[in-house]
Amino acid sequence: MFDPLSEGALRDPFQLYDRLRVETPVYFDERLQAWIITRHRDAARVLSEHQTFGTDIRKAGVEIPDSSNSIQLLDPPEHGTINRVLVRGCRAQDWQQLRGSLLKEISYRLNVAAGHHSADFCKEVAAPVAFHAITTFLGLRDAELDAVHEWSTAIVNAMDSGLNPSAAAPGAAARDQLTELVTQEYHSDRSEGLIGWMRQHSSGVAPTSTITNTLRAMLHAGYAPVAKLLANALHAVLASSSACLTQLQICDHERWSGELLRYATPVHAVCRVTNTESEIGGYRIHPNQEVVVLLAAANRDPEVFPDPHLLLLQRDTTAALAFGCGPHYCPGASLATLVLVSCLGLIATRFARTRLIGDPEPLPNAVLRGPAHMMVHLIPES
Ligand code: HEM
Repeated sequence: MFDPLSEGALRDPFQLYDRLRVETPVYFDERLQAWIITRHRDAARVLSEHQTFGTDIRKAGVEIPDSSNSIQLLDPPEHGTINRVLVRGCRAQDWQQLRGSLLKEISYRLNVAAGHHSADFCKEVAAPVAFHAITTFLGLRDAELDAVHEWSTAIVNAMDSGLNPSAAAPGAAARDQLTELVTQEYHSDRSEGLIGWMRQHSSGVAPTSTITNTLRAMLHAGYAPVAKLLANALHAVLASSSACLTQLQICDHERWSGELLRYATPVHAVCRVTNTESEIGGYRIHPNQEVVVLLAAANRDPEVFPDPHLLLLQRDTTAALAFGCGPHYCPGASLATLVLVSCLGLIATRFARTRLIGDPEPLPNAVLRGPAHMMVHLIPES
């Protein structure tokens, strides 16, 4: 019934999500030993009711050592202590300077890619742009794209370890490598970006390993999902209609970025574990059971978003769950949105006749969805 890695589901998971939402919106998957949630109202409830649905998935038997603890495994009130500092640190960064350097990097990457008749947008634009954005934001100067990409790939594969257990160990090793990279910067005497800010402002907030693991989570989330978001968003716009790209120039960017995130979010699933006996949609759920919230399915729930499979650039997407909701709401939402608006905005103004070449090849992953490769012809405006 739920086979998110089938060829059909990799090309278009939304048919599977629609079927689940209509037939069994609260579904227990024997293979995953987890509940699968597809309706918007259930998803929002699970993410908001942190006392019942916690994030410490170790309670459901997932093995994570204490030394890997991060904001992602903490629930309120411990979560709030580190989250407040992190959010303050994000706000304190020099956003104007970041925007300027990001636009320069995007422009450079687009011009180089436009020099070839066909370019892999994922490799030549999306990955280096996401890498530039997150390493600048964090103040991480010694990172190399190829190494981060390799570790990130192992971490992304491990997100599917419920379906493919052999991916877990290489993912854990890669997580350690990324943490080591961040830890070296954290202990250096340089004080740039969010890493430097956290070193100065987070003493006594949480053990140092929890802070550096949280910064590692920022590094990974700022790279892989953002790179996939850029490719998904460009694909959605180009596949929608020939006029859609030019419409980005005239529509309100807050509206179109929200709609692209709703429609083309790369983060399809997040997990919770039940702390107590609970109930969702009439089903009784025992303690310590895993609950998988399919955010991408909730974002296409027709009860909340009429004509959900249409990309409507002016749509009100206030209720969308691309960045989650409740205490674990994504602290990188502003950065992700800035990268999306800057990159798609520049393509719309300077490469408005860009077209896809063939169908993109999907990444074989159920949690992070997007193309592994996407060939495009970037045509500069003369
Ligand atoms: C395409 C872009 C992105 C999407 C779709 C996305 C989505 C999400 C979602 C849905 C959550 C909530 C997870 C949950 O409820 O368990 C989350 C959390 C998180 N995100 Fe993002 N994110 C993106 C970009 C970023 C960026 C750029 C950063 C860092 C700068 C980041 C850092 C984090 C961190 C550290 C958490 C964990 C927060 C917590 O557990 O309290 N994300 N993200």
